Amino acid sequence: MKPLLPAILCLLLTGLAAGQTAAAPAAGTGTTVALIGDVVSDLRFKDIRGLARSAGELGSHQATVLVFVTSDCPLVKRVMPKLVALDAAYRERGVQLVAVNVGATDTLKDMAAQAIDYEAAFPFVKDEDLACATRLGIERTPEAAVFDSQWRLVYRGRIDDQDRLGGTRPTPSRRDLAMAIDELLAGKPVSITTTPVDGCLITAAPPVESTGPVPTYHHDIAPILAERCTSCHRPDTAAPFELLTYEDVTGHAEMIGEVVRDERMPPWSAHSAYGDFQNDPSLSSGGEADHLALDRRRPSRGHAAGRPGRRARAGP
Ligand code: HEC
Repeated sequence: MKPLLPAILCLLLTGLAAGQTAAAPAAGTGTTVALIGDVVSDLRFKDIRGLARSAGELGSHQATVLVFVTSDCPLVKRVMPKLVALDAAYRERGVQLVAVNVGATDTLKDMAAQAIDYEAAFPFVKDEDLACATRLGIERTPEAAVFDSQWRLVYRGRIDDQDRLGGTRPTPSRRDLAMAIDELLAGKPVSITTTPVDGCLITAAPPVESTGPVPTYHHDIAPILAERCTSCHRPDTAAPFELLTYEDVTGHAEMIGEVVRDERMPPWSAHSAYGDFQNDPSLSSGGEADHLALDRRRPSRGHAAGRPGRRARAGP
């Protein structure tokens, strides 16, 4: 069996120094697309644990290379081994590689599974609202953006010219990304700063459907919590708060929505790509997870079955 994720997640996180807190997420509207030569200091993303991070937390490097990926673009799959090799070759020379996931349907666990599949030693982060991609003018995966030690954008474009959507050359005739990094490390201006990218167009996540009946706490939510959450989220446990009443639940609605979407709760670290596990406590991705998307749609209270007027509790 493959190793469980937690140990690996810690490894993946080593590139991201802990301790500093990121400020508010990057702006959505009115984002100006960075030009070559611009200093871009406001990039933000989520790390593999779902925590907000800023690019500055990656630390200071001779070069930082962000490569935008999804877990299912065929061209990303083809270049991933090249990125792993590039990381191994350049890490000691002060180059920090980071994979930035922009897959609309990719969860944090999908992202972690991809890192494990390719044994990538560099961090993977999630650009959930595509703020990074938008800021850097990235439209396809796999596309790279290279920054100098001052976070000045010096290259944007393909990894090399080998992989095409329509087919692959036996060998690349230009290794554009590596050439840009070499020039940067040699203190020279990057000679070709922008290259076209053959790849998968990045798609924003669709707006959430809010049609259909509004779920009620008593009928739709409390039974799921009783089965999946309240064994921990009740008094005298390690869980930080109770999820036993309508007020408990609506009072933590935003956070519940986030941990469910990121698959951080219920705690369970095996990824379904590695087979089915017994006792898997994960929510079913259809109804259960949808009902707990409370940041997107608040439940109404509803009625406790057979006990009018009683303050119903989700747990024992
Ligand atoms: C096995 C015990 C356990 C189960 C089951 C569980 N939780 Fe948690 N939960 C915890 C613990 C422990 C923490 C505190 C984590 C920490 O401090 O990092 C937590 C934290 C949280 C947080 C705060 C945000 C965070 O990530 O720390 C939310 C929201 C949450 N849980 C929601 C849920 C929901 C919703 C369910 C059911 C779908 C659930 N939990 C199931 C133990 C559990």
